[in-house]
Amino acid sequence: MDETKVYVGYFELGDEARAVINKVLDAGRISEGKFTQEFEKSFAKYCNTKYSIATSSGTAALQAGLIALKYHSSYKNLTGKKIITSPLTYIATANAVHFSGYEPAFVDIDPVRFSILPEKVEELLSKSKNPAEEYKAILPVHLMGYPCDMDALKSIADKYGLVLLEDSAQAHGSSYKGRRTGSMGLFSAFSFYIAHNIQAGEMGAVTSNDEELIKLVRQIKANGRVCDCPVCTRPQGKCPHLPKDNKNDDDFDPRFTHSILGLNFKTMEFQAALGLSQLKLADKIFKARQDNVKYFNEHLKKYDEILQLPEFDRDVSYLAYPIVLKKDASVNRKHLRLGLEKNGVETRPLFGSIPTQQPAYSHMKDQYEGKLPNADYIGKRGFYIGCHQYLTEAHLEKVIKVFEKVLK
Ligand SMILES: Cc1ncc(COP(=O)(O)O)c(C=O)c1O
Repeated sequence: MDETKVYVGYFELGDEARAVINKVLDAGRISEGKFTQEFEKSFAKYCNTKYSIATSSGTAALQAGLIALKYHSSYKNLTGKKIITSPLTYIATANAVHFSGYEPAFVDIDPVRFSILPEKVEELLSKSKNPAEEYKAILPVHLMGYPCDMDALKSIADKYGLVLLEDSAQAHGSSYKGRRTGSMGLFSAFSFYIAHNIQAGEMGAVTSNDEELIKLVRQIKANGRVCDCPVCTRPQGKCPHLPKDNKNDDDFDPRFTHSILGLNFKTMEFQAALGLSQLKLADKIFKARQDNVKYFNEHLKKYDEILQLPEFDRDVSYLAYPIVLKKDASVNRKHLRLGLEKNGVETRPLFGSIPTQQPAYSHMKDQYEGKLPNADYIGKRGFYIGCHQYLTEAHLEKVIKVFEKVLK
């Protein structure tokens, strides 16, 4: 990696990655096959869940899980149309809710760990005349790797008869009270986009302990086809979907018989193989990112009066290094970001508050104006820089020097 550039995310196609790509090519199958199956097993083990299903992206994982709720025997009768989620997240969370036929409902977040506040969820639900008819699920987002308060959210979900889900796209390997993020909701969605802690270019996964949900996701990601087996048993004549009285009916093909509505959310062997090779490095990646966060915190604490630095927590797998400009800061975000960028340190805004700051959701602006002060504030004054495992000592020192230059 270029020593003069500090990217937000990076990927080095090292020898191991090249070798796994070659293995896929040698295997002669690039659409989902044995690498995808192996990835699914390994990722479930990593998250401490019974199951994991690979999808084409994190957005697809969210959507597949949300659509599955409509068919699931335990949840299809919950008729609420709204899903309570975070306003401060990558827009995919809200988009997936929308395109699965629900409406996002936003509550404010904790200003330090960016997680939805359980008391705000409770407040919203307590105001509803009929919460169970209005709402279906709570979808907390573990932003930047910080786990949400899942116990508090679970008791609220149970109290109001709602489903608790997770968006863990930014939190591979974080834990909450000894439990891995991605193992606490009915399902959780992950993203393996290039800048994320486990990278595969583009890929996602749904994790869950619920067999029915997983079977549905397997169908939905393949246009709702009948097939829901982890590995196809048709070649051995053991397909469980063949009519019982007509075992040898070659005319019935479950791959082209569709029992529910779905989309194409399948991934490719290349991504699954890359994901597998990254997963083997997960502990190292986790530690390298934490070490970089510690280093930045130590060297930037002299700007404590103007910068809110990320809280260090041993249980957090950091997606990036988030910074929020404090109220009395003499510098504004635009100036600081421009200064950093000009000197080779890439930055990204902390997403923006979806209903009040994202043009695509301007139809919700009036409804939420003034109601999400923390998300609004961070959406305007927050940004992040990279803390990834490819940063060298020279990169780390450079970041500090650039801050000193811009803030002097
Ligand atoms: C919180 C969150 N949810 C969902 C997604 C969507 O994942 P993908 O980009 O893989 O579709 C992302 C991607 O960055 C994300 O950060």
